Parts: sequence; C-alpha cells; structure tokens
Amino acid sequence: MPRLLAILGSPRRKGNTALLLQEAVRGARDAGAQVEEVVLRDLKMSPCLEIYGCKKTGRCVIDDDFQRISDLLLSSRGIILASPIFFYSVSAHTKILMDRCQSLWVKKYWIEKTPFGTRDAAKRALFISVGATRGKKLFDGVLLTVKYFLDTFDAELWKSLLYRGLDFEGDVRKHPEYLEEAYQAGKEIAGLL
Ligand SMILES: Cc1cc2nc3c(=O)[nH]c(=O)nc-3n(C[C@H](O)[C@H](O)[C@H](O)COP(=O)(O)O)c2cc1C
Repeated sequence: MPRLLAILGSPRRKGNTALLLQEAVRGARDAGAQVEEVVLRDLKMSPCLEIYGCKKTGRCVIDDDFQRISDLLLSSRGIILASPIFFYSVSAHTKILMDRCQSLWVKKYWIEKTPFGTRDAAKRALFISVGATRGKKLFDGVLLTVKYFLDTFDAELWKSLLYRGLDFEGDVRKHPEYLEEAYQAGKEIAGLL
C-alpha cells in the first residue's frame, strides 16, 4: 500500500487549509493509500540553529520531533503539504520544518556530493495553500520555497492547489468546488504512487 505523509502547517486546526487537506487525505484514502497525518503545531520542533551538527552524518543533531518527521519524509512515497500564506510565505510552523531539512540538503549536496538536478525525484508532492488577498503574485514566493524544500528529500511538486480570497475560518466551505478539487487531487496522487 503506498504511503503518503500529510502535513498540516496551519496553526488553525479547522481553518481553510485544514479543511482542504482533510479532503485531499479522504481522497487519497479512498484511492487506497495509507496516510500518516502530522499537525505541525502539535510537535516540539526547534528552528534550525545553524550549528551544522548534520555535517558528519546528514542527520540533524537537535533531538526533538523533527527526527520522526525526517524519517517519515524519507520513507513516504508521496507528500501532501498544506500551509496558509503568511506574509507571502509559508506559516512559521511550516518554515521551521523546512529549515530543519537543511540537514537533508547537507546530506545530499555536501556529504553525497550529488550534482544539482541529477537525482530523479522519486516522490510526488501535492501542495495546498490559501491566502486572503487576490494578488497575482500571492503564491510566487511560496512556490519557490516549496520546490527547494521538496528537493531535499527527492520529491517533486506534482500539483499545487492555490486558493485566493479565503480569510476567515471556514471561508472555504463557501466553495465546495475547491474542496472537491482537493478530494480529487488526493485520489490522483495516491493513484500515481
Ligand atoms: C500572520 C499572518 C500573515 C498573513 N499574511 C497574509 C499574506 O501575506 N497574504 C494574504 O493574502 N493573506 C495573509 N494572511 C491571511 C491568511 O492567509 C488567511 O487568513 C488564510 O485563510 C488562513 O488559512 P487557515 O484558515 O488555513 O489558517 C495572513 C494571516 C496571518 C495570521
């Protein structure tokens, strides 16, 4: 059974990102995937301290919940990452996870000396994001951030579901078509693995 990791990066448990992710997870499970769900706000995860203790083995030396998430990122065949837009980037909870993955970057590029762009992306990822405003560039920054985060564990961005104009908790319920799209994307990514 293909293993998928679903990561909720919003601090709101029942917010727009959470509802969309819930639908994607439901779709993936309906398609037969085994989905592990992680809520970042529930974890104890220090930001990267830039001490480069990872330089010897590629493993972060800070002993907290990142160790388990790092193992899950490496062992899952697919990832669904969901974060709201906070100041044109991901949420702080999500960014902490991303920065801790610098240890995986060190392993890949410094220890294993992989030439950039040469390793096949073995994993597929779906990114879900929402923002309150409607600007054309709302997701520009975050897409670049997500791309390079995924690369640290050989995943590629298969699809992004990006929704503008959602602000208050539950706003996404006014758009059942968005929730349906998330459900279908969950089903599809499970089918790809
Ligand atoms: C700290 C913070 C920063 C935000 N920054 C932006 C932003 O830069 N652009 C935007 O369109 N919305 C911004 N928002 C609004 C959220 O993206 C919006 O409320 C979203 O629906 C929250 O998602 P959630 O319900 O999944 O938590 C911000 C909200 C917060 C709390």
